[in-house]
Amino acid sequence: MRKPIIAGNWKMNKTPAEAEALVKELKPLVKDAACDVVVCVPAVDFAAVSNAIQGSNIHLGAQNVHFAASGAYTGELSADMLKAAGVEYVIIGHSERRQYFGETDKTVNQRVRAAVAAGLKVILCVGENKEEREAGYTDALVAYQTLIALNGLTDAEVADVIIAYEPVWAIGTGLTATDEQANETIGVIRRTVAQKYGAEIGDKIRIQYGGSMNPKNVKGLMAQPEIDGGLIGGASLKAPDFSLVVNYDK
Ligand code: 13P
Repeated sequence: MRKPIIAGNWKMNKTPAEAEALVKELKPLVKDAACDVVVCVPAVDFAAVSNAIQGSNIHLGAQNVHFAASGAYTGELSADMLKAAGVEYVIIGHSERRQYFGETDKTVNQRVRAAVAAGLKVILCVGENKEEREAGYTDALVAYQTLIALNGLTDAEVADVIIAYEPVWAIGTGLTATDEQANETIGVIRRTVAQKYGAEIGDKIRIQYGGSMNPKNVKGLMAQPEIDGGLIGGASLKAPDFSLVVNYDK
């Protein structure tokens, strides 16, 4: 059985003081969670959040990582830097990075390899935009994004990657994929992994849904057999909302 994982993606929100306050409020609310709980925060908040989550079941994540070990990459952070700051998880290939910051399938793959080599747990984002869905390319596109991103990893490394299926048209729009749509596309991703890496790994790999997931729709989505968790944007910025998502089974 796959253990569900609910991760917050705070995006470009929260100063260190705000981050600390949010995590302190969140801690008691999620302490009995049956799923893995992660908050992916801006780098300036690593220290505050890493301190505040001590002794709790909340894990620290980052929102990006560079592929080089060090060097002349102004503004970037290496996997070892993240590790040293107490980061355990890292989101890679978020559609906002692909859309606004020139991220490509190739650089996503480079970042995935560097993160895995450093021992970070990867949350790999894939997903189609509205035009691609309407044109009928969703399945081919998510399969391609998944295979390229995982290229070069060992089978065991692939099994530990977490994939987040985030249809771009559902992010921050209030539009959610229907439970069935999300389940179906996540099934496509799982079968793609199974075909390339074997049935056992296809069965083991955890795949989240992301895109306007919130306390209201979480139960329906999580009831779907293929969906192993969520990557939550807006609803992760308030402790009561995020805790309701985390405690979807309660
Ligand atoms: P929203 O939950 O705000 O739609 O964001 C989803 C997302 O992009 C998480 O990475």
